[in-house]
Amino acid sequence: MNILIIGGGGVIGQKLASALAANGTLRGQPITRLTLADINDPASVDASFEVTTTRCDIADPASVAQAVTADIDVIYLLAAIVSSHAEEDFDAGMKINLFGTYNVLERCRSLGTKPVVIFTSSIAIYGGEAVDPLGDHSYPNPQTSYGTQKAIGETLINDYTRKGYIDGRAFRLPTISVRPGKPNRAASGFMSSIFREPLNGQPAICPVASDFEHYYLSPRKCVENLVKGANLAAADLGQNRVMQMPGRTWSIQQMIDAMTAVTGPQAATLIDWTPQSDVQRIVSGWRWDIHADKAERLGLTADDSYEDNIRHYMTDDKP
Ligand SMILES: NC(=O)c1ccc[n+]([C@@H]2O[C@H](COP(=O)([O-])OP(=O)(O)OC[C@H]3O[C@@H](n4cnc5c(N)ncnc54)[C@H](O)[C@@H]3O)[C@@H](O)[C@H]2O)c1
Repeated sequence: MNILIIGGGGVIGQKLASALAANGTLRGQPITRLTLADINDPASVDASFEVTTTRCDIADPASVAQAVTADIDVIYLLAAIVSSHAEEDFDAGMKINLFGTYNVLERCRSLGTKPVVIFTSSIAIYGGEAVDPLGDHSYPNPQTSYGTQKAIGETLINDYTRKGYIDGRAFRLPTISVRPGKPNRAASGFMSSIFREPLNGQPAICPVASDFEHYYLSPRKCVENLVKGANLAAADLGQNRVMQMPGRTWSIQQMIDAMTAVTGPQAATLIDWTPQSDVQRIVSGWRWDIHADKAERLGLTADDSYEDNIRHYMTDDKP
């Protein structure tokens, strides 16, 4: 298996690369080569097979043509700019999230090699007038440009698959928490930073009330599901290659209680409750009554409790 991760320098890309290195196989075959491509130089990972890193800007078709070659069997398309960034810079969101995705799919079409393409969509595609509970067959009614770009991307995954240009799979990722590393420009950033920073002895602002509910998954489970997503047989996927990735709904208070149960009461005292109207405006349109029926039927799973998410952060990521 020759695998390409575009967006391989990002949080999920790096974790996925490490998981693939640890597994050594994908789709029942040994991994022979892994390439990490990103607009910024991605870090490499240790593996028993060849790992290369390269720069690639998905907004530039020539750059995509260099990274996406005929010998690649599986492409993880993770590269994107996140919600607040795409909301602030409409042009960048369109260029990267929409036309970048299109450039990768068009490159696959021109090669004619029908690679497996795994695309990371988002629960940001839900919203507006779509009726609860939400899931695989809900009408996408995104309330952000990022969600709109993801909704178009997943629709393209279905059509390029139907035409036989790729073997596509698109997963609507729950919000990933606890997301390691530095805060990013996602409106959901606080949903990780109010745990990550206090667990590292630092203060963090919570811009919403403690009863705010949302739909979450740990990075470890997300990567596990992305690996399973590539392993699924095309015959089992049916006519809709887009599905909700399993997650769980928790309130901020339930998550804080979970952190306290795992690590003691000190961390929660570092949370500063300061309402922020710009963040509230975006996240109040997000939805949490979400079901992942198809993915669960196919064997993808969510975390059992938010205590697990905290434990995963402590073992996998805490500096
Ligand atoms: N983390 C979450 O909560 C979450 C939730 C839903 C969906 N997703 C999606 O999952 C994917 C991975 O998320 P992540 O948390 O690892 O994000 P991330 O920001 O850590 O990684 C994205 C990577 O894409 C790269 N990138 C940006 N523009 C690029 C371009 N023009 N060409 C090539 N690379 C480019 C960035 O440099 C970065 O390394 C993204 O598509 C994101 O939209 C994430």
